[in-house]
Amino acid sequence: MIQIRKLISFCLRVFGLGAIAIQAIAQNAPTYSADVAPILQEKCATCHNPEGIGPMPLTTYEQVKPFAALIYDRTSKRIMPPWHVDPGIGIQQFKNDASLTNAQIDTIENWFNAGAPEGNPADLPTPIEFPSGAEWQLTEQLGPPDLIVRSTPYDVIADGQDQWWMPNVPFEGLDKERFLKAAEFKPSYPLGKKVVHHGHAVLQPADGGRSVALARYGVGKSWEIFPEGTGMRVPADGSIAWNLHYFPVGAEGPGDVVEVGLWFYPEGQQPERETAGEVMFRVDGLKGMARGQDIVIPPHGYQVLTGTHRLDAPAVIHSYRPHLHMRGKVMTMEAIYPDGTKEVFSQVNKYDHNWQIAYIYEEDVKPLLPTGTILQFTSVFDNTASNPINPDPEQWVVFGRRGVDEMSHAWVGMTYINEEQYAQAAAERRARRETLRID
Ligand code: HEC
Repeated sequence: MIQIRKLISFCLRVFGLGAIAIQAIAQNAPTYSADVAPILQEKCATCHNPEGIGPMPLTTYEQVKPFAALIYDRTSKRIMPPWHVDPGIGIQQFKNDASLTNAQIDTIENWFNAGAPEGNPADLPTPIEFPSGAEWQLTEQLGPPDLIVRSTPYDVIADGQDQWWMPNVPFEGLDKERFLKAAEFKPSYPLGKKVVHHGHAVLQPADGGRSVALARYGVGKSWEIFPEGTGMRVPADGSIAWNLHYFPVGAEGPGDVVEVGLWFYPEGQQPERETAGEVMFRVDGLKGMARGQDIVIPPHGYQVLTGTHRLDAPAVIHSYRPHLHMRGKVMTMEAIYPDGTKEVFSQVNKYDHNWQIAYIYEEDVKPLLPTGTILQFTSVFDNTASNPINPDPEQWVVFGRRGVDEMSHAWVGMTYINEEQYAQAAAERRARRETLRID
């Protein structure tokens, strides 16, 4: 009898204390209203709002609660928000960094582990208005575009495989050559934002000169602002070759039109540096092979490809945007300098074909490369069943335009400069680093 009473009192002590302890933890635990809502508002709600491209809105507790486990899963694995560059390697200062801080990831984890409590609604952050996807995103910084160019209408189909729409449209609206400062690629809203997977608007000059890519788009990359004093030469006459890749999403839309907004330097003004915009560096067709011929990924296997490119002039890199398809997992960009030293700039290690993110470097950390630098890119393909978006690990995979085939190249924002500009930029950078060290 005594034994049983002892046991009961022991149980009461342990479980009673346990309950009190759990309560105490819960009291200190982050709540939705005070701690989690501000994070979701800042980092998620631009897409996860009722009109956004995210599959569900995350703007109220009622909307968020059923997704607590999924939110914890995606944020702790750094899958959401979409920002797939390895935080442990290379340059980490980006103009468009969308990632969560470690502290924010911890807050979400602690909140989820405490049972995802709501807390006091009085602690909620002031609601914000989301800019409509129908607006130009750059208007706030730059005002309305100086010129808008449009594709011809395309009838969006609901189901089926990848579709390409490639109209050629005369380029009108400029009297004389101008220098481009910024460009934004804007699919229609809301349908176009969901169904246009990627696209290019490339100006073919009337005089037969080198073509000029006015804007390149992928989900995750819709605009480009060239650095201060840098612009892209745009001739007045020519035609725009549109290359629009539509991926059916179950909704029809007749007459879909894509727009590109262009912002120029003032008439007659030539910026100091002329940029080539995003330049394609291939990580396939190596050793003299035809493009993509060396992509051969075995069933349930991996392939690694490395592409090297020697720079014939000094250059500044302002952005990095790897392009792979569904088996692509990793792409690393590094430099081997003329003196033999090596530097890794960026590594995208969670590549996801749904996203074509341009990682835009902050001014002070943009790679500055002397003539003779070798840019080296390494791609890793995963054709195993553990790749969650692998449509079929039984297949051999080769090069092709469809998402189920593969590609391997990087779009790199490049400005080639001359030797004097390089010497000056290198001296400025050294001076800035010295100052930082003295401070
Ligand atoms: C740039 C737009 C964008 C941002 C920012 C964004 N998401 Fe997403 N999210 C999406 C899209 C699109 C999908 C569906 C496609 C995919 O999974 O890539 C998605 C999928 C998800 C899913 C999986 C839903 C499912 O049913 O499988 C979760 C959970 C999620 N997001 C949470 C978040 C959280 C939390 C944040 C902020 C910390 C966030 N997202 C930021 C666009 C975004």
